[in-house]
Amino acid sequence: MVLLTHSTVSVIVSTGIFFLFTSLLFLSGYALQQQSVRNIQHAIRPPDQAKAAGHLYKRSTQDPLSYLDTDADQERQELQPESTPGATGNYAYLQLLSEPDPSNICSAILFFKQLSTAGTAIQDHLFMYPQEWDTMSLSKPIAAALSLLRAASLKYGIWLLPIDMTAATSAGYTTTDTKLLRLGQIQFMQYDGVLYLQTPGMLLDSAKLDAMLLSRPLPLRHDKSRIESYNNEAWIPVPLRSERDADLPPVYLITVNNIDNGHIEARGHIPNVSLDGFGRIVTGPWGVQLAYDGNHDQDKQPGYVFFERDNEGQVKWAHNPLFGSWRAQQYEVCDGLDLDDVMVDHDDEYDT
Ligand SMILES: *[C@@H]1O[C@H](CO)[C@@H](O)[C@H](O)[C@H]1NC(C)=O
Repeated sequence: MVLLTHSTVSVIVSTGIFFLFTSLLFLSGYALQQQSVRNIQHAIRPPDQAKAAGHLYKRSTQDPLSYLDTDADQERQELQPESTPGATGNYAYLQLLSEPDPSNICSAILFFKQLSTAGTAIQDHLFMYPQEWDTMSLSKPIAAALSLLRAASLKYGIWLLPIDMTAATSAGYTTTDTKLLRLGQIQFMQYDGVLYLQTPGMLLDSAKLDAMLLSRPLPLRHDKSRIESYNNEAWIPVPLRSERDADLPPVYLITVNNIDNGHIEARGHIPNVSLDGFGRIVTGPWGVQLAYDGNHDQDKQPGYVFFERDNEGQVKWAHNPLFGSWRAQQYEVCDGLDLDDVMVDHDDEYDT
């Protein structure tokens, strides 16, 4: 029989307690760490995978991390609608706003609604905006337009991309469209190409617009062995100069790729407007007039028409045959908002 002294017992007991608590501490630390790994994985997943996961929401048993598995990719393929032949790449349409203007927000909603009702071979529809819109206090019409946008994002499958602009604003820069794109384009890595279309504007023919991405070889990533990547008849390189320019070209093809040593290659192109047919796909209102001046040739109608703005940011309605129908359709998607309000004020200035 071994006799245990009082002090031996207390050493054994306290050692036991020490091990018990150390183990508990380790286990809870491990659980926390796993939790944050999941959060990080959630945060860094690219939008299309997040979207694919979103498409699977009905399967409640779905492991939120299963998009990391290879068969999640397979499911994504199956979820793709019957795509037109040639739509082999991964493309997106993009509209963005750096200023929260209700009329422009409603124009973007209308564009995405038209895309979803008319149908398009381009799977992803993106809307980019400064993240601060989600938290700052905004005027009533702006807040109303944004809540309509959020509702529309579910209804029409718009992928909203709030971009943290503090890197620009804290350095004293104003928020511009080019800066927003500069800071946000990193999210386009998984696309072969993203086609930006200026808002305000109006979609006339989504099939024609699709053809802009699908009918000709795209420059894509720079590649010495592929001549279209650096000498492309249809797409002219125009780098994004966010320090110099505030506005983007009204139609702009963005390609972002991860290249060697963790460097990012971001390329911007505008369509070659002298290329017959191609240059008329996206035009200003003059493109519509040209088509009407002839014999109402439907083939000559643009796919998308961007509207010009005056110095005060108001859409010019003169010489724009689409203005009336655009305004009427804006009211359909933004029921309850007074979009002519600002313009009336504007006219008043002239009266006084
Ligand atoms: C644009 O298209 C025209 C007409 O096909 C062509 O002559 C011209 O070389 C093209 N521009 C570029 C930069 O490729």
